[in-house]
Amino acid sequence: MISWNPALARRHLRTLHDFSDEEMMQLVDLALALKARKDSGVRGDLLRRRNIALVFEKSSTRTRNSCVVAAQDEGGNAQYLGHETHFGHKESVKDSARVLGRLYDGILFRGFRQDTVEQLAKWSGVPVWNGLTDESHPTQILADLMTLRQRFGDIRGRKLVYMGDGRNNVANSLMAGCAKAGVNYVNCTPGQLLPDPELVARATAIAAKNGSTVTVECDPAVAVRGADALYTDVWVSMGEEAKTAERIAMLRPYQVNMDLCRATGNLGSGLVFLHCLPAFHDSETEVSKDTGAQEVTDEVFESDFSAVWDEAENRMHTIKALFVSAIGDPAAGA
Ligand code: CP
Ligand code: NVA
Repeated sequence: MISWNPALARRHLRTLHDFSDEEMMQLVDLALALKARKDSGVRGDLLRRRNIALVFEKSSTRTRNSCVVAAQDEGGNAQYLGHETHFGHKESVKDSARVLGRLYDGILFRGFRQDTVEQLAKWSGVPVWNGLTDESHPTQILADLMTLRQRFGDIRGRKLVYMGDGRNNVANSLMAGCAKAGVNYVNCTPGQLLPDPELVARATAIAAKNGSTVTVECDPAVAVRGADALYTDVWVSMGEEAKTAERIAMLRPYQVNMDLCRATGNLGSGLVFLHCLPAFHDSETEVSKDTGAQEVTDEVFESDFSAVWDEAENRMHTIKALFVSAIGDPAAGA
């Protein structure tokens, strides 16, 4: 029997701060329950006759397909809307929001400006989920927390170290998510890429309430000592391609490789490697071949302590939990 907190109905996910710490972990627990039910071969109907718009300004493999499968698994429909709509150019975000809100039961947006998510939430009249902006990537972090829960059970007091571009969308949301979950978070990044001090202060206050810490540390060897999880992301996010050369020069010392994993002291005794993906871990992709960007070595990426495929799968279960809790029908085949 799948059940969820009725207080989650019709809620937006603009950033992780839209949910209390407890509600955020309830979403993760709901995702674990939905996965267990799917794994047991039982199909649900919780999104029956629900229509979800997927408004995407940037590319996606995981997020887009997770939405489609999550909706279909529960008898709903997710419609991809790419560059062929008038959204944000011939028609204002405000007007498109009011149209889409008349047609759809919820909207997931991926794009550039955080303000677009805010506008959609303000004007559409339906729940809006942030599927990545320049500033944040909250649905990713729900999947990351789910993956940590699968590996460690209770994750409070564990230590996660993020290596790389310390001010990107994933780093920002990961800091908030770890603080809310009571996970000790270390952002290891060069001085030129430090996170916004306001975001750090907010996360630090939340972490303190949950008995954990938020730290920014420029020295990789110091940062990773005692880490239970190492996390990295691409060195150049979507929309920042012009900065590729300077980022590679800055971030090469922050690559996740076996030496860094050994420096945690936990290699072979529970260390987990996480990456939101897509990843440059070898020279197979054109971009990596051209630029030499490689935030993680093949050896780590393909290792037995790499949890990246579970993490990618969990995007679907956590997005399903968001959809179900916001617009699901609790009486429909739960
Ligand atoms: N991690 C993630 O958001 O992947 P996509 O860009 O493929 O959606
Ligand atoms: N920081 C990356 C995340 C991709 C999922 C980007 O924005 O491109």
